[in-house]
Amino acid sequence: MDEFVTFTYNGKEIKLPVIIGTEGEKAIDISTLRRDTGFITLDPGYANTGSCLSAITYMDGEKGILRYRGIPVEQLAEHATFKETAYLLINGKLPTREQLTRFSVMLNDNSLVHEDLKTFYQNFPRASHPMGILSSMVNALRSFYPELDTFEEEINLTMTRLLAKVRTMAAMSYKISRGHTVVYPRPDLAYCENFLNMMFDTPVKPYELNPAAVKALRVFWILHADHEQNCSTSAVRVVGSARANLYAAISSGISALWGPLHGGANQAVIEMLNDIKANGGDYKKAIAKAKDKTDPFRLMGFGHRVYKTYDPRAKIMKKMCDELLETLQISDPLLDIAKELEEAARKDQYFIDYNLYPNIDFYSGIVLRAIGIPTNMFTVMFAIGRLPGWIAQWKESMDDPNWKICRPRQIYTGHTQEDFIPIQART
Ligand code: SDX
Repeated sequence: MDEFVTFTYNGKEIKLPVIIGTEGEKAIDISTLRRDTGFITLDPGYANTGSCLSAITYMDGEKGILRYRGIPVEQLAEHATFKETAYLLINGKLPTREQLTRFSVMLNDNSLVHEDLKTFYQNFPRASHPMGILSSMVNALRSFYPELDTFEEEINLTMTRLLAKVRTMAAMSYKISRGHTVVYPRPDLAYCENFLNMMFDTPVKPYELNPAAVKALRVFWILHADHEQNCSTSAVRVVGSARANLYAAISSGISALWGPLHGGANQAVIEMLNDIKANGGDYKKAIAKAKDKTDPFRLMGFGHRVYKTYDPRAKIMKKMCDELLETLQISDPLLDIAKELEEAARKDQYFIDYNLYPNIDFYSGIVLRAIGIPTNMFTVMFAIGRLPGWIAQWKESMDDPNWKICRPRQIYTGHTQEDFIPIQART
């Protein structure tokens, strides 16, 4: 393949270098384009624009491939713990037994939050959305944990604090929103078990950990752990590029994830399925609305910027729905509606033409319902899963010697120069 592309205009030409990734992805390096030609490129939503070189996650949208540090997500979902997956994403390789033990001790030792944080929670209106609370509380952590002396120490301890405390903070918002006693993390419980216990244990009715629910949560968080340069990860990288602290960068990622076109879709899918159920299960109306260009309604949980085939994570999630509901002996009418909706949509020419398939959010809410997670916390669950990915991507950008502050250009389409008009002369 040529090492350059030639850009010709008005009789002039320049050569722009071609970058080829380890999996054969190709990019034109346009970093000198404006200097050499006066042109910029325009790409709304950055659908054709790469923001960075990255060695963390590889996705092939046509083949439905997803690998973290080269390991297929299917193998990690089958064999890894979420802690191992987080370590892999952040450090670039799976931990040895000794590294995993040290990582576990660090997470346990940092899993409590400052008691003063409780008053923050108690002053949010009871109906506050948990994503707004989580984003605020993560940002507030800087106030409790000021910058450390060395950059190295700051980075390592802050990453560990975030991973350790995010579960505690999420469970606290749930308990306090219900006026229930806050349950503290326990040293004898592993990462996923600890979260479930903090969510559902009560002083009068101890929570019994169900291995099927623990497995489902482990797989759920592994499937959500990273996804290259998605909207929220890009937000983390952009905020981090200004050298804002990691808490602020992660808080911005949580805010971006909240959107219904992104992580908020898992909650929107359940709301959509409930609406269909309320209409007697008539999913055909939802499909018709999704196809109607005059209607802003989208079939939530369908479509993807990168996957133009079945999201590999959705395949695993769908299979997990069946296994989990059977093991827990739960029947969820929304799962039946989801399957009928998927079958009908995938046969519909509109969805075929646009390559619209279920994405991770289409079945994930069914799993969370079966575990007992309230719908308004579904996107918080996504955020806890994505946290290691955000941290890994942020760290990679900090370690990149060529990284600079993110500041895109624009093409101005407003007024040409006009003079100020005194108020008396304005009509
Ligand atoms: C996540 O980027 C990531 O990796 C995200 C994520 C991650 O792990 O971080 O995978 C998590 O966010 C998954 C996506 C969750 N969102 C939803 O399920 C919301 C519903 N989906 C869509 O809004 C949409 O598919 C997006 C936002 C996911 C992708 O949008 P794109 O790539 O910008 O595509 P588009 O909006 O330009 O759509 C292209 C065409 C449009 O038709 P035209 O205007 O060209 O005629 O496809 C249509 C769209 O109307 N279309 C849909 C549709 N998705 C796209 N039509 C109906 N229903 C849909 N769901």
